[in-house]
Amino acid sequence: MRLLFLGDVVGRSGRDGVTDRLPDLVARHGFDFVVINGENASHGRGLTEGHFGELKAAGADVVTLGDHAFDQRDTLSYIAREPTLLRPINLAPGTPGRGANLYESRSGGRVLVINAQGRVFMDPVDDPFRAVEAAIAACPLGEQADAIIVDFHTEATSEIQAMGFFLDGRASLVVGTHTHIPTADHRILKQGTALMADAGMCGDFDSIIGVDIEEPLNRFLTGIASGRFTPAEGEATLSGIAIETDPRTGLVTRLSPLRVGGSLMQVEPTFG
Ligand SMILES: [Fe+2]
Ligand SMILES: [Fe+2]
Repeated sequence: MRLLFLGDVVGRSGRDGVTDRLPDLVARHGFDFVVINGENASHGRGLTEGHFGELKAAGADVVTLGDHAFDQRDTLSYIAREPTLLRPINLAPGTPGRGANLYESRSGGRVLVINAQGRVFMDPVDDPFRAVEAAIAACPLGEQADAIIVDFHTEATSEIQAMGFFLDGRASLVVGTHTHIPTADHRILKQGTALMADAGMCGDFDSIIGVDIEEPLNRFLTGIASGRFTPAEGEATLSGIAIETDPRTGLVTRLSPLRVGGSLMQVEPTFG
């Protein structure tokens, strides 16, 4: 199976980039399944039902979230009836929505997707390691799941690497989101799990992590807020990682980073 993961969609720029480029990427590379992190798709804050629909219409099979999951109040209600929208699995008991679910890919493969949130430089949440482990124990790779994708949403690359090694051989892909900056450490670990510390964002990189440069720069220079953060509206780069899995084991045989469109150096997937 070929699976594509795209990092945090930021604002209109990110949504338009996904709408304009994802159908062509899926057609050219034969992706069976697409997961997109949508936590910043609505003006940088959360994901309205309408914008969730835009990402789905463009070709997302599953949309994941993060610390901005409930910035748009309507998410608290529509997430309950949208099984293809995931919020972090390790939030307080009783939080609306779900953090993991099993889906069917275009080629009939069973794909378990898990969204979890880290604890280093982040607001307090329950233990992500034990929450993810329980979800995988209920649906193991190579048994009930033909592929497992873990979107681990956190600030510290060390925490994501720890999750990668924790799950090596038990998940297809462990990928970080949240920093919005793609890392260059994508690789297949010894037991066959693909790891990348951050997928990067789908947004305008002529910005500070997707925000117009002026106000965040001003705050770094002066320590004083003098305006709002506004999402940058130039052309988006879609950033993420593509993997190919062994249909028998669910482990990864090939992987490729992806950076398409916009101002970032271009990296086309090399699957041919
Ligand atoms: Fe985040
Ligand atoms: Fe984000």
